[in-house]
Amino acid sequence: MADNFLGNKMEEHLARQQHSKAAKTTRSFNQLVLENRSYRAFDKSFEVNEHHLRRMLEVCNKIPSARNQQVLRYRMVWGEEAEKLNAFIRLGGALPELNLPAPGTEPSAYIIICSTVEESRYVSVDLGIAAQTILLKAADMGLNGICIGAFNKAAVTETLALPCEPLLLLGIGKGAEKIVLRDIEAGESQNYYREEGVHVVPKLRLEDLLIH
Ligand SMILES: Cc1cc2nc3c(=O)[nH]c(=O)nc-3n(C[C@H](O)[C@H](O)[C@H](O)COP(=O)(O)O)c2cc1C
Repeated sequence: MADNFLGNKMEEHLARQQHSKAAKTTRSFNQLVLENRSYRAFDKSFEVNEHHLRRMLEVCNKIPSARNQQVLRYRMVWGEEAEKLNAFIRLGGALPELNLPAPGTEPSAYIIICSTVEESRYVSVDLGIAAQTILLKAADMGLNGICIGAFNKAAVTETLALPCEPLLLLGIGKGAEKIVLRDIEAGESQNYYREEGVHVVPKLRLEDLLIH
């Protein structure tokens, strides 16, 4: 009887521990995803260096890849070299009147993601996985970033003497803007906007994303 009582108590205790561990992990992961927003203004007094970028890129040989082909390559750009790329990017296409990034708030560093093979559906999927995983790592390190598809490919290739085709730039830095997500109804505008200096990103509710 006594043995059983102690055994049950121990099981309850272990189950409680397990549960609270799981709850903690879920919360902090959700928080990370929430913090991983697209920043279009950075605090240039914080210098992102090679060491920061390397830590972010440590995820790249651990992520999935279609047929495990691993065709993506990564170029780190920081310091003065990063400044050269500022002229070749466009941010905030939905807010053209703001001409983002504002001078002095550009990304402090960049990661250029290239492919060694021609673009295809599989390369694009690999690209998305890589970009999001790197950006999550940046957020985990207390930094921020943005995917940049709107860039001058020829100019970036030439400036960095890239040996393969750049598909996407990641702008990296210490984010210097307040960004909030706002639930919207299906059919409402999905364009992001500014409200009293805050960047608002409309997001569809989970219910509207589910197929029943
Ligand atoms: C593949 C891809 C390319 C993007 N390219 C740009 C870009 O060129 N300029 C820009 O300002 N934002 C760009 N974005 C950021 C999106 O505008 C942003 O994800 C969207 O507004 C939602 O905001 P959120 O990332 O904070 O949820 C890109 C995002 C992705 C996934």
